[in-house]
Amino acid sequence: MNRSAATLGHVHYSSSRNAWVGYTAYVQDLIIRCGARHVLELGGGANPAIPLDFLQQHAVEYTVLDISETELAKAPAGYHKVCGDIGSTQLSFEGIEGRHDLVFSKMLAEHVKNGEQMHRNVFRLLAPGGKAIHYFPTLYAPPFVANLLMPEPLADRLLQWLEPGREKEGKKGKFPAYYSWCRGPTQRQLARLQSLGYVVDEYIGFFGHHAYYRRIPGVRRMHQWLSSWLVEHPVAALTSASYVVLSKPVETITMIEA
Ligand SMILES: C[S@@+](CC[C@H](N)C(=O)[O-])C[C@H]1O[C@@H](n2cnc3c(N)ncnc32)[C@H](O)[C@@H]1O
Repeated sequence: MNRSAATLGHVHYSSSRNAWVGYTAYVQDLIIRCGARHVLELGGGANPAIPLDFLQQHAVEYTVLDISETELAKAPAGYHKVCGDIGSTQLSFEGIEGRHDLVFSKMLAEHVKNGEQMHRNVFRLLAPGGKAIHYFPTLYAPPFVANLLMPEPLADRLLQWLEPGREKEGKKGKFPAYYSWCRGPTQRQLARLQSLGYVVDEYIGFFGHHAYYRRIPGVRRMHQWLSSWLVEHPVAALTSASYVVLSKPVETITMIEA
């Protein structure tokens, strides 16, 4: 078998329209299909993604890890919360290394300064055969390039103007974004995840950022047309967001006879 074909995983593309609302169901479906018992959410902060009744129903031991004590304190009681920086080389693995069937994040990866270190840390946190899923905005979608280049207060004001009411839709606050390793399914992105030992099971690249142009009708129509065109004629470097599903292989020990 051609090894690169086998490890490239399933890359496909879609409109970003349902990516935000569909993510929780996507993760829940994977928890059920994999029979995951130990699940870690990264950057869940004030708003953990999986409801407590689902966790109880499926006997899932669930931890929310976030860099901010303040954000964690806003999360409902009943979640097991841990404060830590997932992008740090100093992250403590005591008692949690190799323990998780599933590690996932939603709108976290872009806020981590060192994306490579984040994926390395997640690899260590996973049990052999465990899976990681991340949902994140990607470069080089124009709004995120602008966010990266603009001074933080200006980017913040622009976001409030473009997307009023985003808090009500469950999109929390504005955290500094770096977009390290936040790319669509480009060859380079697939190769660097594989170089850390992951198998890429699935990579979905989304086009469009529909919420942003409600206030500018002309641009909105042009953007809708272009996003639909890109779904049919994908350019991996122009996605606006991605879901990636990664596996940590079960290590096989080769016995060498003397
Ligand atoms: C945009 S919010 C997303 C919160 C939640 N996942 C959601 O979708 O509503 C980003 C979260 O990531 C956390 N965060 C940022 N950098 C982090 C890091 N290096 N390690 C862990 N958490 C981090 C922030 O404190 C914040 O709670």
